Amino acid sequence: MIKYKIKPQRLFPGSSQFLIFFSFLVVLCAALQYYISMRNNIIHPGADELVYEIREIVEVGNRIEKTGIPVIWENIGDPVAKGEQVPQWIRDIVSDTVKNDNSSYGYSPTKGLLATREYIAYERNIEGGAQIVPDDILFFNGLGDAIATIYTYLNPHSRVIGPNPAYSTHSSAEAAHAGSHHITYRLNPANNWYPDLNDMKEKIIQHPEISAILIVNPDNPTGMVYSQDVIRQVVEIARMFDLFIISDEIYSNLCYGGSVHKKLASVIGDVPGLALRGISKEFPWPGARCGWVEFYNTTKDPKFARYARTIMDAKMLEVCATTLPQKVLPKVMGDPRYYPYLEQRCAKYWEKSKAAHAIFSKIPGLTVNPATGAFYITVMFNDGVLKEGQSLKPKNNQAAAIIEPLLKTDKLDKRFVYHLLASRGICVVPLSSGFNSDFYGFRMTLLEPDMDRFMHITDMLADAIREYINS
Ligand SMILES: Cc1ncc(COP(=O)(O)O)c(C=O)c1O
Repeated sequence: MIKYKIKPQRLFPGSSQFLIFFSFLVVLCAALQYYISMRNNIIHPGADELVYEIREIVEVGNRIEKTGIPVIWENIGDPVAKGEQVPQWIRDIVSDTVKNDNSSYGYSPTKGLLATREYIAYERNIEGGAQIVPDDILFFNGLGDAIATIYTYLNPHSRVIGPNPAYSTHSSAEAAHAGSHHITYRLNPANNWYPDLNDMKEKIIQHPEISAILIVNPDNPTGMVYSQDVIRQVVEIARMFDLFIISDEIYSNLCYGGSVHKKLASVIGDVPGLALRGISKEFPWPGARCGWVEFYNTTKDPKFARYARTIMDAKMLEVCATTLPQKVLPKVMGDPRYYPYLEQRCAKYWEKSKAAHAIFSKIPGLTVNPATGAFYITVMFNDGVLKEGQSLKPKNNQAAAIIEPLLKTDKLDKRFVYHLLASRGICVVPLSSGFNSDFYGFRMTLLEPDMDRFMHITDMLADAIREYINS
């Protein structure tokens, strides 16, 4: 066997030879990496756009919890996880169906059970506005599934403009489909979080690739409910620029504090559009994975008709959506106890919304509007209030070590959220990274069922904000 002995002075005789040798090593590593990795680039151009901070923050919360700090989860919009009880009569309907209806175990038709779609079309049509037939309805495994599908099957060069702050399932899925950041219009915190329609129009003019406008009504994260007049103006903008509208109405039956929810259908006229609804928040039954899309005016535009058919064809490949929740939907929503039950829940959200607003609005440097829909409230830090170097004392050294590397982010509201977790054990979602926003702030939920505990959490939060701002 031949042995090579390389004398160090021959390897590094001078700096120029060293540079040549080092460059050779770099090229060799790159070549090796090329040959041992995939032969083609398999990475989707939109891969980096898929972020869902609302759940990512849970990982940090879990690690903080393991250090012995009990965590108060104010980040996730699941009423059941927060302790709300699904009423016994709804559970009875579900269990009777499971016990007695063998067909609830089978597939359903691709679009969804006919009886259920008939019921939804009936409920929709008696309200007036755009009329639909059961064939205009398509069921999905939760609205998350519907959202993924409607952006995936939109031409990648067609963009959908959405609100800022944005519910990140929409903004991420839209950005991923195009392989580029989501384009947004601003919701105005100084005007009750209503959309800035001038900004919307300007962006649509600047970006000819925009083909649709997304509204989330009632809105997540702001709790704002669009007035009918504002929806009408959005429809007019869509008409002016030949766009279609996507209206996420998953919270449509959760309005309070005098707000009256008007659906897109009430003012859409002959503009093409789709509304998204579901049972995750209403029953509430998020684990059922059941939501649906209502298509409006598919016959009014051939391109929109083709797009709608593509979404239906895509669902066909998947066979169908979950059957059991579709089976029980008309029985639950058609029950005389349903709407009084929702009213009761809404009254509680309103009470919490007012209480949280009263507490946060006393703190200088914040902008906060009472929520009148959905079950979240957004607290915004005014410009310049968050600064480098602000901090809160962590409850223990392990928590300090967990957040230390995370604090390198340049998003100042995210830093506040990490400090809040380590010092108070409260988990909220930052506006900037959690809701694709250039506002700094956070979203908390109005879901805590125990009012005393809700007040205690809100007071703790307010105390942490004061201490942080003044630190
Ligand atoms: C505005 C909005 N749309 C859609 C969804 C997703 O709902 P689903 O549970 O039906 O996937 C949520 C969930 O938080 C939401 O807030």
